[in-house]
Amino acid sequence: MKNIVILISGRGSNMEAMIAERDAGRLPVNIAAVISNRPDAKGLETAAAAGIATHSLDHKAYAGRDAFDVALAQCIDEYAPDLVVLAGFMRILTPAFVRRYEGRLFNIHPSLLPSFPGLHTHQRALDEGVRIHGCTVHFVTAELDHGPVVIQAAVPVVDGDSEATLAARVLRQEHRIYPQAVRWFAEGRLRLADGRVQVDGAMADDAGLV
Ligand code: GAR
Repeated sequence: MKNIVILISGRGSNMEAMIAERDAGRLPVNIAAVISNRPDAKGLETAAAAGIATHSLDHKAYAGRDAFDVALAQCIDEYAPDLVVLAGFMRILTPAFVRRYEGRLFNIHPSLLPSFPGLHTHQRALDEGVRIHGCTVHFVTAELDHGPVVIQAAVPVVDGDSEATLAARVLRQEHRIYPQAVRWFAEGRLRLADGRVQVDGAMADDAGLV
């Protein structure tokens, strides 16, 4: 069974979705550890309650990004993960860190990339007046929010939406597609070629359009 390590910074609801799928027997992975860069991340309690090893590495205790990322990699590597899963991990990673986990580092981003990389994606989608928004799971590369796309889900933007209502609609889809992406990885169905992802045996329905 594949080993995964999940990195969080806060609530950890995407991590929770993976724990739930694992518990339901639909995600054949060993969640070896959950690591947070914020000691007060609520998700750490959730993970510990599920019997998962947890670590908090406070980024403020390190001299800079390089030192933090070296310590983070040391902590991750104790678990020899096949895949490192960024689930609301709100730190920019150094190129050296990204290189170390090339091809085995996932992120989820709350927009349909390449639209709206960066922060405040839901408010920016509302400000632009787009009618379709969503979320993306991608392999992480050195360029922020730009790696090869594994899976996306789209949601409608509804008249009267606030940032909160739109975020909630997108989050429901995040909880569906992130475990799906990890499942594909665990099943060895993902191939990376020319910076694009191929999913062996994926059906059109898997793509996740509403
Ligand atoms: C999620 O919406 C995720 O897409 C976003 O943070 C939230 C974390 O929620 N990630 C980013 O914005 C990364 N740039 P969670 O802690 O409940 O999973």
